[in-house]
Amino acid sequence: MADIILGIESSCDDTSAAVISDGVLLSSVIASQEVHRAYGGVVPELASRAHQANIVPVVSEALSRAGVKGSELSAIAFTRGPGLLGSLLVGTSFAKGLAISLGCPLIEVNHLQGHLLAGFVQQKDVPFRHPSFPYLCLLVSGGNSQIVRVDSPLEFEILGQTIDDAVGEAFDKCSKMMGLGYPGGPIVDKLAKQGDPHRFKFAKPHMPGYDYSFSGIKTSLLYFVRDEMAKDPEFMEKNKEDICASFQRCLIDILMDKLVLAAKDTGIKEVAIGGGVSANSELRARITEEGEKRGWNTYLPEFKFTTDNAAMIAIAGYYHYLAGERTTLDVAPAARASQL
Ligand code: KG4
Repeated sequence: MADIILGIESSCDDTSAAVISDGVLLSSVIASQEVHRAYGGVVPELASRAHQANIVPVVSEALSRAGVKGSELSAIAFTRGPGLLGSLLVGTSFAKGLAISLGCPLIEVNHLQGHLLAGFVQQKDVPFRHPSFPYLCLLVSGGNSQIVRVDSPLEFEILGQTIDDAVGEAFDKCSKMMGLGYPGGPIVDKLAKQGDPHRFKFAKPHMPGYDYSFSGIKTSLLYFVRDEMAKDPEFMEKNKEDICASFQRCLIDILMDKLVLAAKDTGIKEVAIGGGVSANSELRARITEEGEKRGWNTYLPEFKFTTDNAAMIAIAGYYHYLAGERTTLDVAPAARASQL
């Protein structure tokens, strides 16, 4: 009999459910929350309310598209954290209630592990190509910037991470500062394509080991724009493509320098990327280019698996399920990775 896992993801502002059968994706439904756009960032209270409204229809739709009845589920996997507590509470409580009503095992998943394993979701009619263990994953999103060594589906070690802001936040702040909209990453990415990445210089941080820092470069952009605008009030409007391209180049340089160092030091040549920022066209091009130069095998996630989605939660849950792990009903969501 097939192992059928329902995955539920609600860590930030996407309510998502997916069904996989023996690791193969049967359905994936994502309800993104437009309500935050007007505020230029995710408003936690509004996010939990929207999850509350979306969760029943999203899970029902995922089961119906998969052609799977609740009674056929082998387990329910849900994101326990890290993320926004109110958002996590909705998914966790819903998963618990459904597990009780169906008499079905419950499996908690670390959201970050979901991103690490996104490449292991098999799809019908799509060639299955995934990294071999051990591999390095550059995990870059609105909440994280990490280099992770993945030794098996259930074993991973964070080699380096940001000590302050995530790189996605730097993209978002850049866009907000320039009045371009939210979320900033895709907007900056698009404008950068028409700009000169070498026109302006921003100072790169000097961080030890494989750690990152993105708060300084954000401030450096703020002061740069402020000073230039004092000389010419139209500076930003006239140069937005070049500013975006130069700022983006600097962020990608920072990410790549540490990734190259980690790959050199560990001798690992299997290199993947994950998280919302892995949709960035410049980052994808640079990883591919470095890979060709250094003999890496590189793995870029499909766009639908870069942002938060429940397919990655379902596949991570599947590996926990195969390992015999089960979560008890007294589980509580955890906002921070250190609490997991
Ligand atoms: O993984 P994700 O959907 O949510 C979490 O943070 O967990 O990542 C969202 C982040 C946002 O900061 C967004 O601006 C960024 O990913 N992002 C991008 C691109 N698409 C999304 N950043 C740069 N370039 C993109 N094309």
